[in-house]
Amino acid sequence: MIILPGPASIELGKRIADELGVIAQTVDHRIFPDGESYIRLTGSVSGEVVAVVQTTAPYPDQKLMQLLLTASTANDFGASRVVAVVPYIAYSRQDKRFLEGEALSLDVVIRLMENVGITDLIVVDTHNSASLHMIEERHSVKIHNVSAIPLLAEYLKKHGYEGALSLSPDKGAIHHAEAAAYVLGGPTSLFEKTRDRKTGEIIMAAKDLDVKGKRAVVFDDIISSGGTMAMAVAVLKNQGAEKVAAACSHALFMGGAEEKIRKAGADLILAADTVETQYSQVTIAGVIAAKLKQLSKPQHL
Ligand code: R5P
Repeated sequence: MIILPGPASIELGKRIADELGVIAQTVDHRIFPDGESYIRLTGSVSGEVVAVVQTTAPYPDQKLMQLLLTASTANDFGASRVVAVVPYIAYSRQDKRFLEGEALSLDVVIRLMENVGITDLIVVDTHNSASLHMIEERHSVKIHNVSAIPLLAEYLKKHGYEGALSLSPDKGAIHHAEAAAYVLGGPTSLFEKTRDRKTGEIIMAAKDLDVKGKRAVVFDDIISSGGTMAMAVAVLKNQGAEKVAAACSHALFMGGAEEKIRKAGADLILAADTVETQYSQVTIAGVIAAKLKQLSKPQHL
């Protein structure tokens, strides 16, 4: 197997290659003045299983294009199979038509991957695995969803949050809180969040959470603007929580998200390295390497 670390995931690609003890082959890349992407493979991939590691944030359209160019070129030069490792998959929140006439964006993304010959896609804590798998049924790409949540919880356990309350900001993410609670050893709870589909405004209903003097962690798949996480943290602090951590798999951190979350009272912000930020204290490399190992077993080839 050869790992091709795409321009968006050079460090993660190398970490995965190290875990597997295989080569991380450099991918030459450039952005032309007009914004187009250039990609060139720097070695042979002929007859090899190739894993292209490329996250898709920030600048999702550019990162997606780089992924497609790399995967397509690996196929052109004789790779026996091309696996895409896309730790954060852009457009995952537009996995349904919420309003009449909307694009089914995630379906288009998977179709493009299929068209460049990607056979398998590994993602981390996808926004909604049920709808991703409904989309998978319409295409030949096999999708494998792995999780960073237990690793985030392990880190928190070692940094003062053992036994803390694990929360999710909405019902859709409760499985994250449950997976974390399994590691942290505390209870779980959730908020009730609704988002206005036209304005994007979030309404978060506070529950009586019994957090006075206790430690709590809010787990979400994505922190984008930080609005959801900041609201959750503020509710917990207002209800008297002693310490609150904000943890996510994908730290997109757009438009001052960290500041918003800090201002809301978060004592710790933590993320995985699906998108590299200063908060990426947890690496997903081992989990992805294990999945790649499993996929390279003869029955999957
Ligand atoms: C949405 O349902 C996701 O799970 C996240 O809660 C959401 O994407 C976070 O977005 P923001 O940081 O902009 O509130």
